[in-house]
Amino acid sequence: MITVTDLRKVYRQGNREVVALDGVSLEVPKGSIHGIVGHSGAGKSTLVRCLTLLDAPTSGSVSINGAELSSAGHQDLRAARRRIGMIFQHANLMDSRTAVQNVAHPLEIVKTPKDRIRTRAAELLKLVGLAGFENAYPSQLSGGQKQRVGIARALASDPDVLLCDEPTSALDPKTTDEILALIKDLTARLGLTVLVITHEMHVVKRICDSVSLLAGGRIVEHGKLRDVAANLGSELSRTLLPLPAAEPLGSGAVLEILYSGDRASEPMLTSAARRFDLDLNVLAGSVETLAGTQFGHLRIQLPDGADPAPLAAYLEDQGVSVRAAGKDAA
Ligand SMILES: Nc1ncnc2c1ncn2[C@@H]1O[C@H](COP(=O)(O)OP(=O)(O)OP(=O)(O)O)[C@@H](O)[C@H]1O
Ligand SMILES: [Mg+2]
Repeated sequence: MITVTDLRKVYRQGNREVVALDGVSLEVPKGSIHGIVGHSGAGKSTLVRCLTLLDAPTSGSVSINGAELSSAGHQDLRAARRRIGMIFQHANLMDSRTAVQNVAHPLEIVKTPKDRIRTRAAELLKLVGLAGFENAYPSQLSGGQKQRVGIARALASDPDVLLCDEPTSALDPKTTDEILALIKDLTARLGLTVLVITHEMHVVKRICDSVSLLAGGRIVEHGKLRDVAANLGSELSRTLLPLPAAEPLGSGAVLEILYSGDRASEPMLTSAARRFDLDLNVLAGSVETLAGTQFGHLRIQLPDGADPAPLAAYLEDQGVSVRAAGKDAA
C-alpha cells in the first residue's frame, strides 16, 4: 500500500517560487493499480520523483506498507527504495549488456551471490515472457521486448510497489496492450501496488482500478474508475467517455445523458419519448465497459420549443444522469 499525505514541493528559481505539488494526498491499496493523469506541467513527474525521494519533498510524507520514507535515514532510505520498482517510457537498458545481464544489474549492486543472480534473472525473464532471450542484446530486441526486460529488472529486488512513468507511450497500440496486460497480470500474481503516470486514457481504461486527475499540483478529481466515469460533466468522465462533436439541428434543447449497468438505452429512450410524446434525436453516443461496468453516454436533442425539464426529471428518476449540454468548460 502507498500512502501519500499532504505532499508539497516548491522549487525556487532565483527569487521566484514554483509550487509543483500543492498538498497531494493519495492512498493506493495493495494489489491495485492507480492512474495519475494530468496535463503537461501538472506535477506528475515531480510526484514520481518525490515518491522515490529522488527529490526531497518540501513537506508532507510518503509511506510504503506503513514504512515512512520521508523520515528514513540514509540506510533505511536505500532499503526502502529497493521496495519500489520503476518503469519508464523507454526501458533505458544498457546496450553493452545482454537481457539477462540487464536484469541482473540491481542484484549485483546489492551483492547477491553470483549463482543466485543467474537463476533469479533467468526466472524474471521467464516471468515477463522472455524465456529464450537471455543472451540477446537490446539492439536485437523490439520495443515491447525491451520494455519487458525493463519490467523484469524493476522486479529484481522483489519490490512491493511499482511506479510506472508513461510505460507505454513509446509503443504501438498492440504492444501497448500486451505490456498493459503483463503489468495487470504481475500486479495480481505478485500482489504489487502500482502507480501509473500517463497521459493516455487508454492506459487508465485498460488497467487502472482508480484514478486521480492532477492539475496545478493538486488532485482535483479522484476515485474508483466507475465512480469518476459516472460523474457526468466532470473532466475525467468526459475523457473516459468522450462524445464526438456534433452540431445540433435547429434550436431544440440538447441534453447529455449518462447511464450505467445493464440498462439499455434504446427501450429507456423510446419509453421516455412515448411518455412525453417527443421525437428525440440522438446526436452522438458511445457505449463502453469500464472496470466491468457498462456505460452509455448520449447527446440527445428535443424538438424545437419542447421543455426539457419533465424529460430530464423522468430520466433522473430512472437512475440516469442528465445535464444540459454545452455547459462544459472544454
Ligand atoms: N527542477 C525544477 N525546477 C523548477 N521548476 C520545476 C522543476 N521541475 C519541475 N518544475 C516545475 O514544476 C511544475 C510541474 O512540473 P512536472 O515536470 O512535474 O510536470 P508534468 O506533469 O510531469 O508535465 P509533463 O506532462 O510535461 O511531463 C512545472 O511548472 C515545472 O515547470
Ligand atoms: Mg513529466
